[in-house]
Amino acid sequence: MSNHKKSAARIIGASIGGILAATALAQSAIAFRNTITGEVLNFSDALPEGKDTPAVKEFMSTGKNPYNEDVSCLKQGEQIFLSACSGCHGHLAEGKIGPGLNDAYWTYPQNETDEGLFSTIYGGAQASMGPQYQNLQLDEMLKVMAWIRHLFKEAPEKATWLTDAQRKAFKPFGGHEELPENPAGKCQVKK
Ligand code: HEC
Repeated sequence: MSNHKKSAARIIGASIGGILAATALAQSAIAFRNTITGEVLNFSDALPEGKDTPAVKEFMSTGKNPYNEDVSCLKQGEQIFLSACSGCHGHLAEGKIGPGLNDAYWTYPQNETDEGLFSTIYGGAQASMGPQYQNLQLDEMLKVMAWIRHLFKEAPEKATWLTDAQRKAFKPFGGHEELPENPAGKCQVKK
């Protein structure tokens, strides 16, 4: 390549980079990053459905999962977990082929935050932990996260993702819980 062409290619490359960065900013106030590579996640790859729910919008700007400890979301989160995650992570997230997700130890410490957990689910990690963006809607990711957080079996003080009020009420998961059918809350199915 001639020098002239090379510099043109660099300019084009730089502009594309700039556009991508600007798009990422427009999408979220927080830069969600791939757990392994650190690259900013591209939410234009997400499934179109469930992308613009009030909860997703709130999460994208605050990094706080509005579904945490909302009982109307937990049962739906459990269903998603049982179909998409438990085969590798165990029925109660106790660990199997993949690590346990129900205690305070994380291979990737950023998973202690909901921002980090979401990024790992969306963009994947290593080995068989593939990206889930073509498998789950963004809104479903928030529901499954709420369920994983609910399965936490350690002391509430370590549940740093909860609000103070939620932490006061939180009980470490006891192994079994009968959840009501379609209770009132953010995920209630309106009939
Ligand atoms: C095919 C098996 C498989 C499936 C399905 C799977 N995972 Fe994983 N997961 C793994 C493996 C293996 C690892 C360890 C990867 C690593 O260390 O990089 C992992 C790692 C993780 C981690 C990082 C844990 C830590 O300690 O930092 C999270 C979070 C996670 N998975 C969540 C999920 C969720 C949520 C689902 C369902 C939507 C899911 N996984 C589905 C196999 C799987």
